[in-house]
Amino acid sequence: GLSQIGSESDWRNANTESFKSVFTAGNGYYLLYEDAQQKQENQLKAVRDFILQEVDYTILDPIVETGWDTVLMEAEDAGIPVILVDRQMVLENDELYTCWVGSNFREEGRTAGRWLEDYLKSQGRENEEIRMVTLQGTPESSAQIGRTSGFADVLSEHENWNMLDKRNGEFTQAKGQEVMGDFLKLYEDIDVVVSENDNMTFGAIEAIEQAGRSCGPGGDIIVISFDAVSEAAFTYMKEGRLHADMECNPFLAPMVDTIIKRLERNETVEKIQYVEERCFDAFMDLDAVMEERKY
Ligand code: AHR
Repeated sequence: GLSQIGSESDWRNANTESFKSVFTAGNGYYLLYEDAQQKQENQLKAVRDFILQEVDYTILDPIVETGWDTVLMEAEDAGIPVILVDRQMVLENDELYTCWVGSNFREEGRTAGRWLEDYLKSQGRENEEIRMVTLQGTPESSAQIGRTSGFADVLSEHENWNMLDKRNGEFTQAKGQEVMGDFLKLYEDIDVVVSENDNMTFGAIEAIEQAGRSCGPGGDIIVISFDAVSEAAFTYMKEGRLHADMECNPFLAPMVDTIIKRLERNETVEKIQYVEERCFDAFMDLDAVMEERKY
């Protein structure tokens, strides 16, 4: 059984596709797929339904970090291993899940901060006051918590970086556009937009351009994003409308497949497994990157 969060972003759709293409009958699986439509209560119900249906494994991408202890105890009592993917949980007892596979969100946030540090230096702007806003993802999700706190680690080292505002853009394009529109009305001078996923970024770029402003190299606002979805994010960078993008790898299913095969052979699996990720920017040979990256 797979409890997916929803379909809020291109990243999420690529992640769902990854599971549906790996967990097929041809590969020896029967996948029960549940879309929670952004509601934790739907995920709790899905896990309970999987218990009733006596699945062999539950794969769970938790929308937020807390509120899972009881349902995981129920899965444990039923003898069903739970594999967490993408986002993490804060539990009283970490033994309640078998393992977790996903991104190091805090590191992604730090990489974004370091990228900005280097870029401002290259532009001779390292001592200027830099006014920024953040479009945040779903509150209390580990992607939001990690990216916000990782960027804050670097922000705290720069007295001249001024974070004017941080607001929830729900990881969606429509909300990203709306919130960016509000920021532009509220703050006359915005130098940097940190946007915690690509779809909010695409919406924010729309809002910036509709307001008669410009972004990307040569423009007046620096936009930094997360996900690096193919091809859209690369197209924005190639068009010079987006500065940099921190990769978040959606293709987690092959790793989960390997984990399940190991568990079937009674082998031990590593509790925490990070996927490899990179940082891309508009100054790279992005055609070469896309060719080599294949997604
Ligand atoms: O948890 C991963 C995040 O969730 C991705 O960055 C975002 O696009 C998605 O909706």
